[in-house]
Amino acid sequence: MNEKDHKVSRRQFLTYTLTGVGGFMAAGMIMPMARFALDPALKAGAASDNVYVCDVADLTEEPQLFEFQFDQVDAWYESTISRNAYIYIQGNEVTALSPTCTHLGCTVAFGTNAEHPDRFYCPCHFGMFDHHGINIAGTPPQRPLDVYEVTVEDGKVYLGQITQRT
Ligand code: FES
Repeated sequence: MNEKDHKVSRRQFLTYTLTGVGGFMAAGMIMPMARFALDPALKAGAASDNVYVCDVADLTEEPQLFEFQFDQVDAWYESTISRNAYIYIQGNEVTALSPTCTHLGCTVAFGTNAEHPDRFYCPCHFGMFDHHGINIAGTPPQRPLDVYEVTVEDGKVYLGQITQRT
């Protein structure tokens, strides 16, 4: 190989130089934009903590409706969310049910149906659930009401994630 074989032509030199400078400039512009777009989603703390809802002393064996709020950070937005839960106690066990009908999402109410005062009733399509939120056969809902994760500490009831039952 002679020295002439290793020489870079003027055209090649310009191509390499412009490609390198162009790539460097593009990376300098894209990196801050990508960081700006992704940063909130990558931050820790997306999972919500348990929320205080009521005292155990407030509970009865009959499901009662409690409203509670919590702050939610959803990537770019911070907001206060309101939720409801039917909560009851049997022995030492506290159960919290979602009031959202598992048929098509209407809101159920406990004890409002005169013929079945011990059931949850959904007025949209006459769906029914028993005291524990189990769907009554022959009515439209095909699965029980969802349940909240319940934590009891120092006589206080905290609700966490909601879970679907089958
Ligand atoms: S939405 Fe409740 S029965 Fe249809």
